[in-house]
Amino acid sequence: MAKNTAVFRAASIALTLLVAVVGCDSRSETTGGTGSTPTSGPSAEGGGSGSGKKITVGFAQVGAESAWRTANSKSIQDEAAKRGITLKFSDARQKQEEQIKAVRSFIAQKVDVIVLAPVVTTGFEPVLKEAKAAGIPVILSDRRAAVSDESLYQTFIGSDFIEEGRRAGEWLAKKTNGKAVIAELQGTPGSDPAIERKKGFQEVLDKNAGMKIVMSQTGDFTRAKGKEVMEAFLKSPDGAKINALYAHNDDMALGAIQAIEEAGKKPGTDIIVVSIDGVHDAFQAMVDGKLNCTVECNPLIGPQIFDAVEKVVKGETLPKRTKVEEGVFDQSQAAAELPNRKY
Ligand code: AHR
Repeated sequence: MAKNTAVFRAASIALTLLVAVVGCDSRSETTGGTGSTPTSGPSAEGGGSGSGKKITVGFAQVGAESAWRTANSKSIQDEAAKRGITLKFSDARQKQEEQIKAVRSFIAQKVDVIVLAPVVTTGFEPVLKEAKAAGIPVILSDRRAAVSDESLYQTFIGSDFIEEGRRAGEWLAKKTNGKAVIAELQGTPGSDPAIERKKGFQEVLDKNAGMKIVMSQTGDFTRAKGKEVMEAFLKSPDGAKINALYAHNDDMALGAIQAIEEAGKKPGTDIIVVSIDGVHDAFQAMVDGKLNCTVECNPLIGPQIFDAVEKVVKGETLPKRTKVEEGVFDQSQAAAELPNRKY
C-alpha cells in the first residue's frame, strides 16, 4: 500500500512538472513583452516547405516605437497569414536582452526559420551561433547585425540607411543654399539606422561648410522623446539659433514639431524640418506646412521576407543583401501623394 502511494506520488510530481514545463513553454512563446502574441496562419495547407510540412517562423521584432514599426509588423503578420505560415511574433520593446531571449525561445521551439530585426547592431553573434548550431536559418530584417561570420545569417532585407541620410542632407543643402544651423534627433543609440543615417547626412555636411549640427541627441525613434529633446534644445543657450531640424525618423520629427509650436515658433518656416520614413502623419504635416521633407523608408517588406523564408526552407542560397526601393517627398508632392500612403 505504502509502495502504491509512493508510486502515485511520484507519478503526480512528474505530471505537475510536465504541466509546469509546458506552461513555461507557452509563456515563452508570448514573452518579449506587450504585443508579443503568437500569430498563426489560417490554413493547414499552403505555407509548406514543398514536403507538405507547414512552415513555422519565429519573428523577433524590435518593438512598437513608431508608426513605421507598426506598419512593418502588420506587413509581416499579414503576409504570413496570407501564405498559411505559422508566425510566432515577439515584441522586444526596444530591449536587446528581450530579443536575445525571444531568439533562444524560438530555437528551443525548433521553428523552421528565425527572422530577426536587431534592435542594435552589436551583441547578437553568440545567439546567432546558437541558431546555426541548432540548424535554424536566420534572416535579418530591416536592421543589420554586425557579425564576424556572414554564414550566421542567410540574407539581410532592408533599406539603405546611409543613402536615406544622404538624401535628407542633400535635400536640406538645396533648400537652405548650403547654410543651416541644425539640431539633430538621432535614433536609438547603436542601432543600424541611427548610425548610418547620421553617416550619410554627415557626408553632405562635409561638402557644405555652411551647414553645421549644433546640437544632437537621441530621441529613441519615439514621438514623446522627440518632443522632450526638442523642448530642451529650444530652451538651451543656442536654441534661438536653430533654423533646421534633421530627425532620424518621422515620429521624432512630429513630436519636435509640437515642441516648436509650443515654443511659439513656426515649424516648416522658422525651423525647416526634414525627416525619414514617409508615414501618413508626416505627409499630413507636410500638407499642413509644418514638415518640409520626408525621405521614404519602406516598412512593407512582408512579401520579400516570406519569399526569402520559402526559398531558405527549400534549401536555396540567397544574396546576402536585398535592398528596398524608396523615394524622397517634399511639400510640393505631399497633397497628391497623401491618399496613396499605405502606412
Ligand atoms: O529601422 C527602421 C527605423 O526604425 C524606422 O525609421 C523608425 O521609424 C523605426 O523605429
